[in-house]
Amino acid sequence: MNQFVEQIEEQMKQLLPAKRYVHTVGVAYMAASLAMCYGENVEKSMIAGLLHDNAKYIPFEEALKECNKAGILISECERNSPMLLHGKLGAYYARTKYGICDDEILSSIIFHTTGKPAMTFLEKNIFLSDYIEVHRTQNTRPTLDVIRTTAFQDLDLAVYYALDNTLQFLKRNNRLIDGMSIDALEYYKVKVSKG
Ligand SMILES: [Fe+2]
Ligand SMILES: [Fe+2]
Repeated sequence: MNQFVEQIEEQMKQLLPAKRYVHTVGVAYMAASLAMCYGENVEKSMIAGLLHDNAKYIPFEEALKECNKAGILISECERNSPMLLHGKLGAYYARTKYGICDDEILSSIIFHTTGKPAMTFLEKNIFLSDYIEVHRTQNTRPTLDVIRTTAFQDLDLAVYYALDNTLQFLKRNNRLIDGMSIDALEYYKVKVSKG
């Protein structure tokens, strides 16, 4: 593995609680596997996977202050559902603290929770890898096995399944749904129906 990837992995080990670090490494290797499967950039996928949750444990008040200071726009949904903010703030830290200049990596961190319409390979990869990495369980993801298999066969269909599952889960639990996820679901529904 290249030295920069090893360095980021070590930094995440120091930064994150043990369980989140294990998930983070799971996402990085899942993303690397999908990159290999589709002939895409393995190193970029590893870096994005390792950094995707770097801002997960910033207390909400501090996260809001940091976003304001950095000029990051906060949507109504993000204001009410603080968990969503760690994507945007994570991308900001990836750039300012970990020296990532690649816009595609930064964007894949921003949208790893919500997804978005017309994602690049890397954006789809990190969104999906976060959903299906080996430590995830069937408890909140009833069709996880199907999505895992599909991810290696048809990335767009797997993204659609994961978005559909996520939105159904949020609805069942009366949780707020980000408009970006609704747009993403609509986009991939049309895309997969066209084959
Ligand atoms: Fe996350
Ligand atoms: Fe994650």
